[in-house]
Amino acid sequence: MNYHITTIPGDGIGPEIVKEACKVLNQAGQVFGHSFDFQEVLMGGCSIDAYGVPLTEEALETARNSDAVLLGAVGGDVGNSRWYDVAPNLRPEAGLLAIRKGLNLFANIRPAYLYRELAGACPLKESIIGDGFDLVIMRELTGGLYFGERYTKEVDGVVTAVDTLTYNENEIRRIAVKAFDIAMKRRKRVISVDKANVLDSSRLWRNVVEQVAKDYPEITLSHMLVDNCAMQLVMNPGQFDVILTENMFGDILSDEASMITGSIGMLSSASMNESKFGLYEPSHGSAPDIAGKDLANPIATILSAAMMLRYSFDLDAEADAVEKAVQQVLTEGYRTGDIYGEGCKKVGCAKMGDLIAERIAR
Ligand code: IPM
Ligand code: MG
Repeated sequence: MNYHITTIPGDGIGPEIVKEACKVLNQAGQVFGHSFDFQEVLMGGCSIDAYGVPLTEEALETARNSDAVLLGAVGGDVGNSRWYDVAPNLRPEAGLLAIRKGLNLFANIRPAYLYRELAGACPLKESIIGDGFDLVIMRELTGGLYFGERYTKEVDGVVTAVDTLTYNENEIRRIAVKAFDIAMKRRKRVISVDKANVLDSSRLWRNVVEQVAKDYPEITLSHMLVDNCAMQLVMNPGQFDVILTENMFGDILSDEASMITGSIGMLSSASMNESKFGLYEPSHGSAPDIAGKDLANPIATILSAAMMLRYSFDLDAEADAVEKAVQQVLTEGYRTGDIYGEGCKKVGCAKMGDLIAERIAR
């Protein structure tokens, strides 16, 4: 079968890592008898340079008409880039928010997994790591504080800024369903994270999640307050299977979860709509300091491509093959600089892509 993929290399290391993910997809296609065609569009700083906006209507339309989207990273050095001398809605990150909203990508799946080979990079004590951890954060991505009404104005001579946290029951229900569905394929445990001791939106969240849980008798559901969850992640990460949470809490907790794996360069993510359409991107940023130097770790993007195979195209064997190839390269001791340790073989971004592609087998 042939699949149309929109690629958005973006800024910084984005182009290098997307190139490697496409290399791996092409190889998986060869081995399993599929073909992929890639159409590239601009988003972020490079789009600002070319068109004056971080995402054009045409780019959004191209993405919408494809089978899936592969994104590298957008944005530059905030303190030192012309892209940030403009209004917030014209900055590189606004492109990301616009494509999420524009394609209705409300379900953001962020796995955080401790690779045995990389356990040395985990900042937690061995007694806490125990048998490791393997969790998924299901973050709501098109609601809450990110998309509520916001303004800054003077009230009685005092400058006042307002951001609004809004959720309706339908938005909560659809993300809860996604979380329960994914938990059914895992260890069947959902921890829903909220701030129900303070926020109305969280109390509604809890109610609706409880309702959805009734359709999933096999799933064990519990609730956790977000401040406690931040603490539990570094105290006992092994207790989590699926974490279900709203947009802002998910933003914060997913950075924490990725940090405790010690290898943010390894973590993939998917942002999906109601059907199987999704945008796949590494969890890390554009790392402008190492851009263009063949130093970036392409593994998170390659694993994101594997998620695309699995979730958008239902190609489970192909996704398994890519994940296995990544595992094999690590077991053989190949590392990019960010995950390098003594006794390992240091390779660049392109070489890492080659090594993984070579190991894809049926
Ligand atoms: C993320 C990022 C974005 C977010 C930024 C770049 C707008 O931090 O994908 O987690 O806050 O969602
Ligand atoms: Mg974030």
